[in-house]
Amino acid sequence: MEIQLNFAPLEDIEAEALALVVFDKEKGEPLGPRTEQSEALRRLVPPLLESGEATGKPYEAVMIHRPEGLKARRLVLVGGGKRDRFGAVELRRAAGAAARFLRPKSISQLAFVADAPGLEPEARAAAAVEGAVVADFEADKYKTEKKEHKRIERLELAGFDPGLEGRLKEAIHRSRILAESQNFARDLINEPSNRMTPAMLAERASQMAAETGLECEVLGREKIEELKMGAFAAVARGSAEPPALIVLRYTPAGAPEQPQIGFVGKGITFDTGGISIKPAEGMEKMKYDMAGGASMIAVLRAIALLRPPLKVLAVIPATENMPGGRAQKPGDIQVAMSGKTIEVVNTDAEGRLVLADALHYAKTLGCTHLVDAATLTGAIAVALGGVNLGAFSNDQAFLDRFLAAARDCGEKAWPMPLDDEYRELIRGHMADIQNVGGRHGGAVTAAMFLKEFAGDTPWIHLDIAGTAWVDEAKAYIAKGASGVAIRSLVTMALRLAS
Ligand code: BES
Ligand code: MN
Ligand code: ZN
Repeated sequence: MEIQLNFAPLEDIEAEALALVVFDKEKGEPLGPRTEQSEALRRLVPPLLESGEATGKPYEAVMIHRPEGLKARRLVLVGGGKRDRFGAVELRRAAGAAARFLRPKSISQLAFVADAPGLEPEARAAAAVEGAVVADFEADKYKTEKKEHKRIERLELAGFDPGLEGRLKEAIHRSRILAESQNFARDLINEPSNRMTPAMLAERASQMAAETGLECEVLGREKIEELKMGAFAAVARGSAEPPALIVLRYTPAGAPEQPQIGFVGKGITFDTGGISIKPAEGMEKMKYDMAGGASMIAVLRAIALLRPPLKVLAVIPATENMPGGRAQKPGDIQVAMSGKTIEVVNTDAEGRLVLADALHYAKTLGCTHLVDAATLTGAIAVALGGVNLGAFSNDQAFLDRFLAAARDCGEKAWPMPLDDEYRELIRGHMADIQNVGGRHGGAVTAAMFLKEFAGDTPWIHLDIAGTAWVDEAKAYIAKGASGVAIRSLVTMALRLAS
């Protein structure tokens, strides 16, 4: 997608379609501050709101052809919902909705008026770019008869003061990399497990690393056992597919030794549950159990392209979780790399096992800060639905940095508790700890388990089981992998570096 700024007055913008946001229940009120400056739009828009043709309801779009007084060939009005609730999340979605409204009509050029009452210009530009790039992605790779959907080939951003060009260009450059990295992850996550085995995930990571100048190392089954990663190796035992421990390193010249962030992602390329096997219904979705791992690979991609002066690495334990003659069994006791012993009460709680060793390994590689992302529990989806990801941490200041980045990136995250009182729920009978904590508070006990392995290192755990997959296509995003958390994590890393 070509992305440009267009500083012309809105009526002079020559585009296939000029799109702007209108708000709910605002008949007769002024339009957005930039839209209001255009005489032609002050004449064209209100009648459409008054007739009810344009509702202003979230992400509903209407189009008029050859709008009088505009050089654009079409005018698109996208609903933004309530004006006083319109922020970073909503502007992204509105831009995405405009793009997805035009695509099936084979309209490939969009000029978007990135107007939002309370947002800074850079934030508005970022939202428009990210919204459009994320929207211009479809999981249709394996359809032999492609629909006639055209990609958005050109995006022009309107509604900006020309004096800000330098700053805006920088924001656009950054946002494009963030959103393209998000789509890079979505592509990996959408792949079915027969086309995204641990070895294939490692291959894609290493290909990306070669293209972006990252270091990539892939450790196989023998090396994993040699490192005494007993928890990770135990999960991998049941599968005929060899596991892969993927390590990506970004070490810019002159960066300080500290801080060093370790991004750890759950890379279960398919989760059958193992011997504690899952029911058949919905099991096909367990191909997205590597979303955390793919996201961390994408985070490193964006960091490699944006080059902050900060040491960063990613550790992705990748394996299938399968039943089989050699699979671990309920009741088995495993010794993690850290030396802690684990009673595996349920082999379907495998994510925390592979992450336990990956978190510990990241510490041995020198990480001073850890962040993991994992489709860890169904319980987080029960608690927060598909709206917010669950954010857990042993360090409030670190968590606050993440939550602030998420807010600015238009990604929804909600803080979850980790009181010591939950610890007793995972106390082991014969070993130090057990890998499940009973029916209640499942997302919290899973996070408590990981906390044992983060130890005193500042650590954030993101449970993305509820948010990593979009169950039904929305006006602004395709069905399938969402690519959640990547933009927020990269943004947090950039801020830590400066
Ligand atoms: N990968 C699943 C969690 C999951 C569920 C992700 C739904 C996406 C959608 C995880 O490995 C798992 O099976 N968790 C169990 C834990 C239980 C056995 C304590 C769960 O959530 O049921
Ligand atoms: Mn599982
Ligand atoms: Zn899983």
